[in-house]
Amino acid sequence: MTPQRRKPVPEPDSQLFPQCRHCVSTLGLIKMRKVVLVTGANSGIGLALCQRLLSLHAESLHLCLACRNMQRAQAARSDLLASHPAANVDLLQMDTSSISSVLIAAKEVKARYDHLDYLYLNAGIMPNPKFDVKAFFKGLFSSNVVTMFATGEGILTQTDGVTPDGLQQVFVTNLFGHFLLVRELEPVLYHPNRTSQLVWTSSSNAYRSAFNLEDIQHQKGTQPYSSSKYATDLLSLALNQHYNKQGLYSSVICPGFVMTNLTYGILPSFPAFLWTLLMPVFWLIRAFTNTFTLTPYNGSEALFWLFRQKPESLDPFAKYHSLTSVLGNNYTQPQKMDITLETSESLYMKLLQLERKMRDKLSENENSTC
Ligand SMILES: NC(=O)c1ccc[n+]([C@@H]2O[C@H](COP(=O)([O-])OP(=O)(O)OC[C@H]3O[C@@H](n4cnc5c(N)ncnc54)[C@H](OP(=O)(O)O)[C@@H]3O)[C@@H](O)[C@H]2O)c1
Repeated sequence: MTPQRRKPVPEPDSQLFPQCRHCVSTLGLIKMRKVVLVTGANSGIGLALCQRLLSLHAESLHLCLACRNMQRAQAARSDLLASHPAANVDLLQMDTSSISSVLIAAKEVKARYDHLDYLYLNAGIMPNPKFDVKAFFKGLFSSNVVTMFATGEGILTQTDGVTPDGLQQVFVTNLFGHFLLVRELEPVLYHPNRTSQLVWTSSSNAYRSAFNLEDIQHQKGTQPYSSSKYATDLLSLALNQHYNKQGLYSSVICPGFVMTNLTYGILPSFPAFLWTLLMPVFWLIRAFTNTFTLTPYNGSEALFWLFRQKPESLDPFAKYHSLTSVLGNNYTQPQKMDITLETSESLYMKLLQLERKMRDKLSENENSTC
């Protein structure tokens, strides 16, 4: 049998991995430091989390920002180093919507680090959102008004696309690309005598009604975002079932309602000054719901809180919510998720099946180009 040729993996780039030249001397230090990888780290909640982690643990951390756009990643790194000049901040190019990009990035991670302590699966999109004005005004005068403001229930739909890999864009960006990353990184996530954590940025917009086990990619509906976040909640539970014995734990959080690029995208034609005018109204809403965290710093509260918890003490059925009181105090609160073990296991099996299918497709393509 002729050996199969594999696609060449690019050499580590010193731009992407600034510590590379000092690899040999820093390897020992990396072994001692906690290694934290954050996807979607160049803006919003991901970037705020990185700032907060460095504020408390700059010396003992090795941070890796995994981003699809290296210009934005470089800008984020410079931003972090401006306030924490001694911090260890690496960059990794990864597009979670592309199977080959995730596989190449995972290979690079395994080459750089012998262990990962925290993997924050935070990158996410809500493309072409449509705000249902009619449903909004109907909700405004209904008993559901607080839930509607807190979760966006019933007022948001999206138009999804299909990636060059033939997968639904929202599904692969928010969920499946991350799932593949976790699967690829198992060797550095499992280590004897210590635990490691997966932390997913989910949402309160995760609804059972938007999710269908027979259509996990949400090809047929109009709420791919909600479906992907519900699938995230299910997957986290399944990962706990399958990985806890190896010392790997998974949790999900909701950051609350946060003003970020993702939120501004809901009303792209809304002028910036109107958002500013709306801010006092949003602060007032905090009197009724503490889910209006509003700033990326506040929104990252639960992600940051989980960093300091013993993962064995966490409830796999809970979603950890970032909350901000009317006086502006941040705290984290768990809430039971609307999920079952049976559905989570079924989704897990379907994701494994899809993973096999995508890997087969990739090696077929590689063979045909040989
Ligand atoms: N904001 C909220 O109110 C809210 C509420 C609930 C949940 N969330 C969740 O919070 C997470 C962070 O979002 P955010 O609000 O902080 O918005 P954001 O500022 O737009 O951040 C999203 C991040 O994900 C990255 N990203 C998007 N597509 C990617 C891809 N294909 N590959 C790699 N990275 C990709 C973005 O990179 P680019 O800069 O290159 O686009 C960006 O860094 C998301 O999972 C979102 O669903 C947000």
